[in-house]
Amino acid sequence: ERKHKVTVVGSGNWGSTISKIVAENTRANNTIFEEDVQMWVYEEEVTIPKDSKFYDETIGDKPQKLTSIINKHHENVKYLPGITLPSNVVANPSLRDAVKDSTILVFNLPHQFINNACKEIRGHILPYARGISCVKGVNVSDEGISLFSEWIGDGLGIYCGALSGANIATEIANEKWSETTIAYDPPPMDNSRAPTPRSSSPNISITSLAEAGHRDARGRASKTKLTPVPAEYPPLDHDCFRVLFHRPYFHVQMVSDVAGVSLGGALKNIVALAAGFVDGRGWGDNAKAAIMRIGLMEMVKFGKEFFGETVQTATFTESSAGVADLITSCSGGRNFRCARKAVEKGMTVQEVEHEDLNGQMLQGTSTAYEVNSFLKKRGLESNYPLFTAVNGILRGERTVDEIPSLV
Ligand code: NAD
Ligand code: 13P
Repeated sequence: ERKHKVTVVGSGNWGSTISKIVAENTRANNTIFEEDVQMWVYEEEVTIPKDSKFYDETIGDKPQKLTSIINKHHENVKYLPGITLPSNVVANPSLRDAVKDSTILVFNLPHQFINNACKEIRGHILPYARGISCVKGVNVSDEGISLFSEWIGDGLGIYCGALSGANIATEIANEKWSETTIAYDPPPMDNSRAPTPRSSSPNISITSLAEAGHRDARGRASKTKLTPVPAEYPPLDHDCFRVLFHRPYFHVQMVSDVAGVSLGGALKNIVALAAGFVDGRGWGDNAKAAIMRIGLMEMVKFGKEFFGETVQTATFTESSAGVADLITSCSGGRNFRCARKAVEKGMTVQEVEHEDLNGQMLQGTSTAYEVNSFLKKRGLESNYPLFTAVNGILRGERTVDEIPSLV
C-alpha cells in the first residue's frame, strides 16, 4: 500500500500549530502516512528577537529566512514563538514544491490569501488529492457567497472538507485540551471504500453523500468532476482524518455539515468584534453574553437562509465549530482583544492589529465587510442587525453606544 503525503498550506499561528499536530500523528501512524509533513511558508526575512533562545550574538539582528530558521531550530519564531515543532515538519518556501505528490492538502492561511495560493497550485497537485480547509472566513464575489472549502474544491477540482472549532492556537500548541469539528462529506466514489461516517454526538445527524449522489455543501449537483483516490492508498475517510488530526489534547468530532462548520468559524469573528466593543466600553459580562446570544441567532439565520439545503442548526448550537468557538473567541481571541483595545484607546481595530499582532491577521474585519456587502446587495442588512452594526462601527458610521438600540 502507498502512504498518504500531507502538506499544510500556511504557517501562521494556527498553520504552525496544525502542522505540529499533524506531524505528531504522521510520525505515530507511519504505515498510513509519510512521516515528513511539508509546511508551506510565505517566505520572509525575520530577525530573531533577543529574548529568544535561538538569538545568536554572531548573527545579531541580521534578518534570516523564516524557512531556514524553522528547519534549523524547529520553531516558528515569528508566528508561534516558544513552541518546538516536530523535526518532521519541513518548512518549504515553494508552494508548488510543497504540494507536489501530496494526497492530503490542509489549507491554513488567512482567507485573504487563499485565492492566490489556489491559482499558484492549480494543475500542480495530484488530481485525486483531498483537502481540508482550516480557514475561517467566507468568499464574497459578484456571484455571491461561497465557503472556502467550496472555493478550494471547485478551483482545484478536488473534494475539500473543513476543520473548525474553539481553537485558540497558542493554547493548543501548549497542549492544553480542546475539541474541534471536522466536516468531511466525500463523494460516493470515496465513500464506497470507507465505513459509514459517524458522529460522536447523537444529536448531530450525518447525511451521507453516498445516498444522495455527489453534491456540494449547498446540496447542488457538484460541477467538479472528481478523480477517485487510487485503491493502493488507505481510504481517505472519516477514520483517516480522525487519525491525522486527533491528539490526546485535541479531540476531533467528525461530522458531514461542511457549510455549518465553515460558516461557524467565519461568522463568529464578526460577533467577537462586537464582544470586544462592548467589553471595551466596560459594560460587563451581561452585555457580552447578550452579544453572544444575538450573534449566535444571526449565525443560525444566515446559515439557514443561504445554505439551508444542507446546514444543520445543531452544528451552530452543539458543535465545537459553533457555540464553543463563539464563546472562546469572545473570551480571548485576537478579534475580541483588538476590538476591546480599540475602544479603550480610541484607536481603529486595524491600528491595534498592526501595533499588537506582529504580522498575524484578523479575519473578523474583512469578514464583516464582506458579509455586509453580500447582505446590502440583497437589501437584507436590517435582518442581521448585529452584523450590520459591527460593519457600521468598523467604518466609523456607528458608535458602540448605539449597539443596544440597533440590535
Ligand atoms: P496568522 O494570522 O497567525 O499569520 C498570518 C500568516 O499570513 C503568516 O503565516 C504569514 O506568513 C502569512 N502571509 C502574510 N502575507 C502573505 C501573503 N501575501 N501570502 C500568503 N501568506 C501570507 O495566521 P493563522 O492564525 O495561522 O490563520 C490562518 C487561518 O486560521 C485564519 O483563517 C484564522 O482565522 C484561522 N484560525 C486561527 C486561529 C488562531 O488562534 N490563530 C485558530 C483557529 C483558526
Ligand atoms: P481569533 O482569530 O479572533 O484569534 O480567533 C481564533 C479562533 O478562531 C479560535 O477558535
